[in-house]
Amino acid sequence: MTTNRQWLVDASPRGRALELTDFKYNEAGVEPLGKGEVRVKVECLSFEPSQKGQIEVIAGYSSGTAIGDVMGARGIGEVVESNDPGLAVGKKVLGSLGWQELASIPGRSLQELPNDQFLTAHLGPLGAQGLTAYFGLLRIGQPEPGDTVVVSGAAGAVGSVVGQIARINGCRVIGTAGGPDKCAAVVNEFHFDAAIDYKNDNVKARLKEHCSNGVNVFFDNVGGPVLNDVLARIASHARVVICGGISRYEQESLPAGPANYFNVVFRQARIEGFLLSGYEREYPVALDRLKGWIESGELVYKEDIQEGFDNIPATLKRLFTGANFGKQLLKM
Ligand SMILES: NC(=O)c1ccc[n+]([C@@H]2O[C@H](COP(=O)([O-])OP(=O)(O)OC[C@H]3O[C@@H](n4cnc5c(N)ncnc54)[C@H](OP(=O)(O)O)[C@@H]3O)[C@@H](O)[C@H]2O)c1
Repeated sequence: MTTNRQWLVDASPRGRALELTDFKYNEAGVEPLGKGEVRVKVECLSFEPSQKGQIEVIAGYSSGTAIGDVMGARGIGEVVESNDPGLAVGKKVLGSLGWQELASIPGRSLQELPNDQFLTAHLGPLGAQGLTAYFGLLRIGQPEPGDTVVVSGAAGAVGSVVGQIARINGCRVIGTAGGPDKCAAVVNEFHFDAAIDYKNDNVKARLKEHCSNGVNVFFDNVGGPVLNDVLARIASHARVVICGGISRYEQESLPAGPANYFNVVFRQARIEGFLLSGYEREYPVALDRLKGWIESGELVYKEDIQEGFDNIPATLKRLFTGANFGKQLLKM
C-alpha cells in the first residue's frame, strides 16, 4: 500500500513564537478516490504569515486548521490519479494541498495551470501576494503620479510587488526592510527609489530625509514601531493601508496602538485595512495586468526556494525571523 507522509498540527502557537514541535510527522494510508476526486502529487508549497493565524484559529483572518489535521497550505502539484473527467492525469494544478506528499481532493476545488515558466509564480506575484499588492495599493492606497509611497516589508512577497506597482503608477517609492542585503535588493532589483534598514537605521531620520514633503501612501505589512514612525510623517490626506502586522504575530499580548495615531486627525488622513478575499470577482483583470507587467519586465520577483519534505515546518518559521528573501516556497 502507498504511504502518504504528512505534517499534522500538534499545538497552537497563539501568543508565542512558532515552534517546530507545533507539528507532528505522520504516515497515512491512501484510500480509493471518491467520485469527482483527484490524487495530486504535491510538488511545491507556498508559505504565508497567515498560516500561523490559521493554526491559532483567529476568526476573520483565515479559516482554521484544527489540532490533528494535516497542516493547511496552498501548493502546486501534478494529478497522478483522477476520478474527475475534467482533470486528466499529468495536469499541473494549484489548490489547498496541505503539508503532505499526496492530496486527495475534489477536482473542482483545483485551478489547472499551464506548465510554463510562470508555474511557481502562481503562488506569488500571479497569485495571492500579487493580488494583495494590487488591490491593497490601487484600491485602498489610491496612489497618484508624483505621490511618495512608503512600503514596509519591502523585500517580501507582497511588499516588493507593491513598490513596483507604485513605480509603474508614477510614484516615488521608499521601502523598509531588515538588513543591508535586503535593502540593496529593494533598490537594485525591485527599483525602489530608496530603502531604509529598520533593524540598523534611524527610521525617523531616514524618513525625514527621503520624504521631505510627507508620505502620501503608506502600505503597511508589519505594524509596530515602523508604523508609528511613518504616521509621524504622513502628508495631508494620506492613505495608510493596513495589509498586515507581522511584528505582532508572535507577541504574547496585544501591543498598544501607535502613539502617533492622532496625526491622522491633523493630516485629515485615512487608515484602512482590507482582505484580499473582498476582491475575488476582479481577480482575472488584475492577473492579466500583473502578467503583462512581468512579461514586459516592469515587474520582477524573487523566490526563496527551500527543499525537502523534512524541512517544511522549519520553512514556515523563516517568515517570522526574516530569513526568507522573496516569496517563500519549498520544493518537495
Ligand atoms: N490583507 C490581506 O489580505 C493579506 C494577504 C496576504 C498577506 N498579507 C500580509 O502581508 C504581509 C506580508 O506577507 P508576505 O507573504 O509577503 O510575507 P513576506 O513579506 O515575504 O515575509 C515576511 C517578512 O516579514 C518581515 N518580518 C518578520 N518579522 C518582522 C518584525 N517583527 N518586524 C518587521 N518585519 C518583520 C521579514 O522581513 P524583514 O527581513 O524585512 O524583516 C519577513 O521576510 C504579512 O503581514 C501578511 O500577513 C495580508
